[in-house]
Amino acid sequence: MLFSLLIAPAAAEAALPPSNPGTPPMSDSPWSLLPAASANAEALDTLYIFFWILCGIAFVGMIGVQAYFMWKYKKPAEGHAKTSPLTHNGKLEFIWSAIPTFFFVILFAWGEIEFMKQATPPPDAMDVRVTGQKWSWTIEYPEVKGCSLTNDLYVPVGKPMRLTMTSVDVIHSFYLPAFRLKKDVVPGRYTVLWFEATKPGLYPLMCTEYCGDEHSSMVGRVHVVAAEEYDAVLAKACELKQGDTESAEDFGARVVVRGGCASCHTTDGTVKTGPSFKGLFGRTETLADGSTVTIDENYIRESILEPNAKIVSGFSPQMPSFAGRFDDKQIAALIAYIKAQK
Ligand code: CUA
Repeated sequence: MLFSLLIAPAAAEAALPPSNPGTPPMSDSPWSLLPAASANAEALDTLYIFFWILCGIAFVGMIGVQAYFMWKYKKPAEGHAKTSPLTHNGKLEFIWSAIPTFFFVILFAWGEIEFMKQATPPPDAMDVRVTGQKWSWTIEYPEVKGCSLTNDLYVPVGKPMRLTMTSVDVIHSFYLPAFRLKKDVVPGRYTVLWFEATKPGLYPLMCTEYCGDEHSSMVGRVHVVAAEEYDAVLAKACELKQGDTESAEDFGARVVVRGGCASCHTTDGTVKTGPSFKGLFGRTETLADGSTVTIDENYIRESILEPNAKIVSGFSPQMPSFAGRFDDKQIAALIAYIKAQK
């Protein structure tokens, strides 16, 4: 944490793929608690501080008494110290067992209550689907038809939100530090998180399970907005239409950002998980079975909708399908964008 803050922000930025503007800093100072932006975070911070003070008191008490006894019962300069005839003290032993036990029970009950609250989403919570894949988060809002964002979670203040999460490839871990929440995202099953945001702002979102080469670029943003602005802000964020004066290529660039394509595809010729878009269009490639294919509109379209249909030799089947996420116009713009990367 401290270390990451010491690295110049510019250096951290450069390492991120261009389609991902990265994640806001965890906190302003390495000494302060992380910003707390949910009811859960505030409750856990109170518990944490209570625990911290308790440990502090116990530490000072024990080390203090030890130091005092070391001084008081040190070996005298001359003669021999007499060994105490006492073998035990029932009352004292009871007290030093009972007091810690009392505090342990408080900690257990308090922690258990908070854990149960966190484990049971309220029935009126708003649903959002989260899908982890190498190496981005797809966040879908069933309330807005066809809305699927990459690495951007929009949250209203004061309304409970439930995330139903899964993965299409390996285990990822969805982490919202400002909400003090983290849960594994596992292929083949759903895991659930819920929270109620309390403070508007921009907060980090990240993957905390090493999931491959670009694990560290699996970061995003949580936009907490006022409840009355939420619908408008979300609708605007979800909209993905070509502007009146926008070229197909420019629109395609926005589609690339929305899809998180740049975590695997560069435009400068560097080959990452997938081929670079540079000079891709019109090339002839060899597939794993030895047959050849020309990278044309049809091949690109098929590769977006059914990425595993024809994989060029040397690449592995890692790309998630974008069927249902991009419509025909968006795919056409994406093709125009790829064509333009000469
Ligand atoms: Cu996904 Cu690390």
